[in-house]
Amino acid sequence: MSEEPLVNPEVLEMVGDWRGYVEAKLGFRNHWYPIRFSSELNEGALLVVELLGEKLLLKRIDGKVYAMRDRCLHRGVPLSRKPDCYTKDTITCWYHGYTYRFQTGELANILAVPDSRLCGRRKIQTYPCEEAKGLIFVFLGDEHEVHPLSKDVPPGFLDEDLMVLGKHRVVDSNWRLGCENGFDALHIFIHKDSTLRHFREFNFPIGHTPLPGAVTCIEEEDGPKGVEDDFSKHHPIWDGEIDGQIVVKGPKFDPKKGTSASIGTSIWLPGVLKVESFPVPGITQFEWYVPLDEGRHLYVQTLGQACTTDEERSDFANKFETHWKPHGLDGFNADDIWAREVTQPFYDDDYGWVDEMLCEPDSTILEWRRLAARHGRGIQTKKDLR
Ligand code: FES
Ligand SMILES: [Fe+2]
Repeated sequence: MSEEPLVNPEVLEMVGDWRGYVEAKLGFRNHWYPIRFSSELNEGALLVVELLGEKLLLKRIDGKVYAMRDRCLHRGVPLSRKPDCYTKDTITCWYHGYTYRFQTGELANILAVPDSRLCGRRKIQTYPCEEAKGLIFVFLGDEHEVHPLSKDVPPGFLDEDLMVLGKHRVVDSNWRLGCENGFDALHIFIHKDSTLRHFREFNFPIGHTPLPGAVTCIEEEDGPKGVEDDFSKHHPIWDGEIDGQIVVKGPKFDPKKGTSASIGTSIWLPGVLKVESFPVPGITQFEWYVPLDEGRHLYVQTLGQACTTDEERSDFANKFETHWKPHGLDGFNADDIWAREVTQPFYDDDYGWVDEMLCEPDSTILEWRRLAARHGRGIQTKKDLR
């Protein structure tokens, strides 16, 4: 019997030119994903993580991070159930002693069967790892497909002077609902009561509609692939009316005094949003929606600020702890998290992708779906989990 498909085939027939995006319920394979902060993995320590439905083991050896599938080749058990690391660069399965080398995944030894013909001839799956800006990135994909990390992060993220700080947590929704909520020009309606406003003067309309020329697809061969939405080419709405009576007002301050909340957003493969300038000019928010499985993603939030001196760096670190983390990443984005989680049930059986009723400004989200379908390097399937 063939495998049950991950996505309802009837739905796939109906969605047209963004079919590949709907198919990518478990994420796009052959891309780089941030999975933890570098500070969370000390020399010699092990971390168990999930990525695109696969369980992985990370270990730092002589300063470098390695990632290996957390599943023994012998009887398929998780090595992490009882990790036995007898030497620095190996892990021995707790069950029958199959021993793997972290750097290559090679089955180096079976402790009680030292002359087994399998030794040196079999490999457990390993994945390339790279560290940048204090994050550990894993390339979840096939050896012959490895691309430079710079093609999977938003422009500016790897800038030399940029100092990056952040946090991560698990959100109970598919990764795509993260991307779409973040890039959604209309969703700022949910932020109208944000705590971030209590200590800052925001100009914050209740919604804004893109005018012609606001949205640009970036698809150069050698760079990251994304869609940019320029808020200066939007028509903002400040007053919400029902039957001619104003019922909601977007906070609007003296433009000379207050700042616009942000000047634009962009969304990039494999699922990372860039918000400029946010929460204040000079700071940029970069946030990833990393697929863990069909119904959960890792929300990796970071803020970047250009710093050239130690004084600037410690100032940013202080402000991050006292202001931007509590009021921005926690306070402000808390509304995004529950919005994604309560959207999920509608998309659980895939029919949400055809039953949704989008309106005009949602065209920006459709641009993203099409771009992702065009440039995703591979669709993670159930077969990849085998
Ligand atoms: S299951 Fe791992 S060695 Fe047997
Ligand atoms: Fe938001």
